[in-house]
Amino acid sequence: MPSVVKINVLTVSAEMREELERRFSGRAGVVESADGFEWFELLRPVDGTDRYLVYTRWRSDEDFKRWTESQAFQRGHAQAAAEAGQGHGHGQGPAASGAELWSFEVVQSTGPAPGA
Ligand code: HEM
Repeated sequence: MPSVVKINVLTVSAEMREELERRFSGRAGVVESADGFEWFELLRPVDGTDRYLVYTRWRSDEDFKRWTESQAFQRGHAQAAAEAGQGHGHGQGPAASGAELWSFEVVQSTGPAPGA
């Protein structure tokens, strides 16, 4: 079974970039222990768009689904939830103004040849 890639696409205004990155640098770090978790990257746009990509890769769709329903997911989003709930994150509101989930299956992957 191929791994699956789940990308959360966050729309972040220029003013909120720093705040978003600050939240991620203080992230809970619990996704690392989720069953079936394979990879995470926070990708900052450098081509003038306002969309950050939260790239994650999982052993299977079921593993991803289990994580989104877990306490670890809630804990990993505690800051975002609390600050959204209060209507202010450091007086500025939620860091992302939108979120969209993209789903893929890994068809091929490769890295550099050994010794290259
Ligand atoms: C409603 C949509 C979502 C928003 C606005 C959002 C935003 C955020 C923010 C701001 C953080 C930083 C930590 C914090 O502030 O608490 C975070 C953490 C994270 N988000 Fe999301 N997120 C959403 C849903 C998702 C989904 C569907 C995924 C799946 C790809 C995802 C993947 C992650 C991961 C892997 C972390 C790090 C958690 C850890 O360290 O354990 N997020 N998210």
